[in-house]
Amino acid sequence: PICALSRRYHVTWNKKPLGETRLAARVRPYHALLTTLADPITRKVLQAAPLLQCVANFAVGYNNIDLQAAKEKGIWVTNTPEVLTEATADIAWALLLSCARRIPEGERMVRAGKFKGWHPLMLLGQDLTGKTLGIYGFGRIGQSVARRGRGWNMKVLYHQRHPVSRSVEQGLQARYASFQQLLQRSDFISVNAPLTTQTRHRFGTREFLKMKRSAIFINTARGAIHDEKALAHALQKGIIHSAGLDVYEFEPRIHPQLTRLENCTLLPHLGSATVETRDQMALLAAENIHLVLSGRKPKTPVFIP
Ligand code: DGY
Repeated sequence: PICALSRRYHVTWNKKPLGETRLAARVRPYHALLTTLADPITRKVLQAAPLLQCVANFAVGYNNIDLQAAKEKGIWVTNTPEVLTEATADIAWALLLSCARRIPEGERMVRAGKFKGWHPLMLLGQDLTGKTLGIYGFGRIGQSVARRGRGWNMKVLYHQRHPVSRSVEQGLQARYASFQQLLQRSDFISVNAPLTTQTRHRFGTREFLKMKRSAIFINTARGAIHDEKALAHALQKGIIHSAGLDVYEFEPRIHPQLTRLENCTLLPHLGSATVETRDQMALLAAENIHLVLSGRKPKTPVFIP
């Protein structure tokens, strides 16, 4: 985005997120901000930026931005939907395969020189074919995770506030389930919902206890949608089988108990991390900024101010 924008605008950038106080101290001269999910665009930051017209988030999620404060100030907020859908769904599946087939455990074993030959009972995992995949949050990414499930002949259940249209359900062969049904009936649960006040800590001890003991829990959306301490406890006590996480409540910090568990696969927020996807995210964010600064409507606004 820097190359695309610096042909027309004066652009500065920081290699690392600045944090709220330093951001607020620096934003005054800027007309647009290109932000990542690690930049807290709070009311304080927005109030310190009298010239600001646009916050272009380099992510589909925008829980790092105070939307209410942006609306009040008439500032456009944009995100990067669609271009990262397939890459993120791939990471959810990579985690699911890793957990079901215990791939990271096997890899660690080989590298540690502990592979002493084939054994009929070594690192037994779970079949994926024909199982029930439960998806929490059935927007673009959730639907893309569901589409992949058809390749494994899975039954797909989903839950979110409102069901999607009949034609989308039919196209994906997915069925709406209540949250309780999703917990009880799914073999695998993939979280693909945005982080909001309603979804924060939606998965805690009570929810893990309702899942099958063989359940695999995958979160590639936002870490705060599950309670990390409760998840660590559920994994340690065998309340659920395993978990695959790409996101954490206090990134880059990870609950120390999670890092010690063999049945927890941990990735460093790689959902959209492919060259092709990041290129498209960068171009889209740059285009959004250019459109706003030239008086037009951005391509992917989060709301119309
Ligand atoms: C997003 O776009 O919200 C992702 O989490 C970034 O990988």
